[in-house]
Amino acid sequence: MVLLAAIDQGTSSSRFLVFEADTGELVVSHQIEVRQLFPEAGWVEMDPMELYNTVVTCINKAIEKLENLGISADEIKSVGVANQRETTIVWDKTTGKPLHNAIVWLDTRTSSLAEEAISRTVTKNKDEFKAKTGLPIHPYFSALKLKWLFENVPEVEETHQKGNLMFGTVDTWLIWKLTGAYVTDVSNASRTLLLDLHKRKWSTQLCDFFQLPIDILPEIRSSAEVYGFFEEGHLKGVPLSGCLGDQQSAMVGHQCLNMGQTKNTYGTGTFMLCNIGTRPIISKNGLLTTVGFQFGPDSPVVYALEGSGSIGGNVVRFLRDNFKFVKDAQEMEELCRKVEDTAGVFFVPCFTGLYTPYWDSTARGTILGLTQVSQREHICLAALRAVAFQSAEMIDAVEHDMDRTFKIKTLKVDGGMIANTLFNQIQADILGCDIVTPKVCEISGWGAAIAGGIGAQQISLDEFLNQNSEAVRYESEKDEEWREKENGKWKESVKRACGWAKI
Ligand code: G3P
Repeated sequence: MVLLAAIDQGTSSSRFLVFEADTGELVVSHQIEVRQLFPEAGWVEMDPMELYNTVVTCINKAIEKLENLGISADEIKSVGVANQRETTIVWDKTTGKPLHNAIVWLDTRTSSLAEEAISRTVTKNKDEFKAKTGLPIHPYFSALKLKWLFENVPEVEETHQKGNLMFGTVDTWLIWKLTGAYVTDVSNASRTLLLDLHKRKWSTQLCDFFQLPIDILPEIRSSAEVYGFFEEGHLKGVPLSGCLGDQQSAMVGHQCLNMGQTKNTYGTGTFMLCNIGTRPIISKNGLLTTVGFQFGPDSPVVYALEGSGSIGGNVVRFLRDNFKFVKDAQEMEELCRKVEDTAGVFFVPCFTGLYTPYWDSTARGTILGLTQVSQREHICLAALRAVAFQSAEMIDAVEHDMDRTFKIKTLKVDGGMIANTLFNQIQADILGCDIVTPKVCEISGWGAAIAGGIGAQQISLDEFLNQNSEAVRYESEKDEEWREKENGKWKESVKRACGWAKI
């Protein structure tokens, strides 16, 4: 039996997953929820040591479960990493200690830095570097977060002066802690706003523009190769041989390996990636161009167009933790099933701004259409519909950026929210395409496990492609007229949310 494992470190939880290589069947896993810290409105931080420690605990607990099944940890032949992207960590290489909390991708503290940066561009436009990086100048990406750390945390410059500063997204931090290698993969590098998308190298122009030292950046490697070996614990000596940003990892896990194949992941946020092949297309409709994957140093790089959404499972967590409307996701589904519709309520739950296609970090959440009959059921249902409306805008943008005749007929979906079958039907109705759920439930982890297996030469891509991944297909029960009306009302609601933090 060949087992392929994966670390999946996300914004909401850390996981360790062990899969059977031939079938993709999940043999054991362990998951721990991680804390998000909100020191100020619009700020989101995480403790890097908590990210690392929860990963180690997940590894230990999953291996305990494996051994309880009578399977030895020696059967694990490789490990891949899937990680929340953009989240920025700085640490001292001599102590191994972080110099600040991680600044999470959702954090908007760098909004004014972004404005200042845009004002220094030739075109005075957020898209000044889009042709080179695939990204707009925006607080979402790592460059401005790193700049903020240099400007606001004196130890960062001090440590840099001593030659001991390390910077990484979560992949780099975890791989360094576990194996000692100081690397990132090309998919994660493409989320920093410092990568030249075409050359797949750190850009001196971008580093100069953001006044960041290029010499501290980790080495860029492919998504499937041996970066190092676990230094201790149950996995000592096992190769860490795959790495992908979690959204790219989900794209691989869904087998979206050919041009035009598209997936959507409902994690903390929502991320739609459409495979665009080996030539980057720069979006004219508010999408990002990102590296999808590269299965080995000599293999071609495959790119994707990405719709990024700040609205996803975080809304369910918000309704649970802040409004106490539900105790868990299951109750959310039960409540929503009690009502036919939202009784006119529209909810735009953008707590830290809106991404695709608006890129407005000053947008704030709003609830519209409340009347005396409005109940929490209506708000909960409006929240689920909001996640789908946001995805409908992404599909629209992808179809406009691709060839005129290109239509997304089938969307492969994953993430915690798809356990809610009502939500899957809502997606099909609002998006107007077939929604397909996968047989492998932990799809991001599966993608990273595949990359790790390829990197350690345990499996080939062809073996993995033979597996059938479709579990359930949902078809729309609504017509175009209904869709147009509802999506139109959503767009009107979004207009009212945009710019709110500036007023
Ligand atoms: O870009 C942010 C993304 O990688 C976060 O993913 O799964 O934590 O919502 P997730």
